[in-house]
Amino acid sequence: MMSRKYNMNSTDKNIRSAHSKCRIDLRSISPQDLCHRILKREQLADTVALLEIEAPLIVLNAKAGQFVIVRPTRESERIPLTISDMDPERGTISIIVQEVGRTTKELGSLREGDCVGDLVGPLGKPTEIENCGTAVCIGGGVGIAFLRPIVKALREADNNVISILGARDKSLLILENEMKALSDEIYVSTDNGSYGRHGLVTDVLNDLISSGKKIGIVFAIGPQPMMRAVSEATRPHAIKTIVSLDPIMIDGTGMCGGCRVTVGGEIKFTCVDGPDFDGHLVDWDELRARKAAYFEHEKVALERREPTEGCRK
Ligand code: FAD
Ligand code: FES
Ligand code: MG
Repeated sequence: MMSRKYNMNSTDKNIRSAHSKCRIDLRSISPQDLCHRILKREQLADTVALLEIEAPLIVLNAKAGQFVIVRPTRESERIPLTISDMDPERGTISIIVQEVGRTTKELGSLREGDCVGDLVGPLGKPTEIENCGTAVCIGGGVGIAFLRPIVKALREADNNVISILGARDKSLLILENEMKALSDEIYVSTDNGSYGRHGLVTDVLNDLISSGKKIGIVFAIGPQPMMRAVSEATRPHAIKTIVSLDPIMIDGTGMCGGCRVTVGGEIKFTCVDGPDFDGHLVDWDELRARKAAYFEHEKVALERREPTEGCRK
């Protein structure tokens, strides 16, 4: 890696002192030289991969619930992805990507040693972590990746954490062992009954509620219909329910308006006001319609995709 000298200002000094735990010597790095290299790539399921990426300046400030905006190559579009894990000592963050369209396929096809085009973050408000007694954390599909740092933080705040993981099929279930290690209790369900309980995560949640268990808070992260169904299940019992919204994002800094949602009758920008919101107050129909607005363009972009060349500086 090339090393250019640059003038150190007070922000740089703060970064360096806060970063004293990191084994990477930041004195040898200038911002221009930073290459976000993929140090590890692990296939978690058929179309789901974990990428551990060098990001020493991002890991410094990242907290549970925050995300990054990634461009797999310099020619790619920008996509938001949640920070699923962080290692301050290695100066890395981990993201988990599910290949659903052109850009996630580009990212999924990068290899260990490649650098991503660019990476911006941490973005969004961190999840508010309090001691609520019992916290039920529900993850659906790749949403389990977003849930992991939240479960970790809730345990550190002395909550009793019950995790409920759901997937359409056993082959799509990720991070079961990691979540087991972090949770006090764990339940798994699959839509087709191929593993765990046959049914939906809301079936498990409804059973917990009817058993009389006192639940302080519910976190639900996953596909919109799942987050909506969880919010409807907890509404009659007045259980606080936090969901992580995933509208289309472009800049991730509150400027483009792409991620506009309505919550409690007020307009919010998910990238700066969220992504966490009270699930009982979200206008779910509007969110669904806005997410589907570019469907035809996304189809064409995928059809025109060419093989991705990773950058190796
Ligand atoms: P496309 O074919 O372009 O789109 C497929 C679908 O993805 C669209 O119909 C739309 O619903 C959604 N989408 C497309 N472009 C965007 C965009 N710019 N922003 C948001 N959604 C979009 N996915 C993961 O696999 N792992 C994560 O950790 C993760 N974290 C996310 C965190 C946040 C805060 C948000 C908003 C989304 C997150 N997503 C995550 C979803 C991910 O950003 C989309 O799957 C991705 O942008 C799709 O891009 P594509 O070009 O591959 O697919
Ligand atoms: Fe542009 Fe939120 S992504 S305002
Ligand atoms: Mg796209």
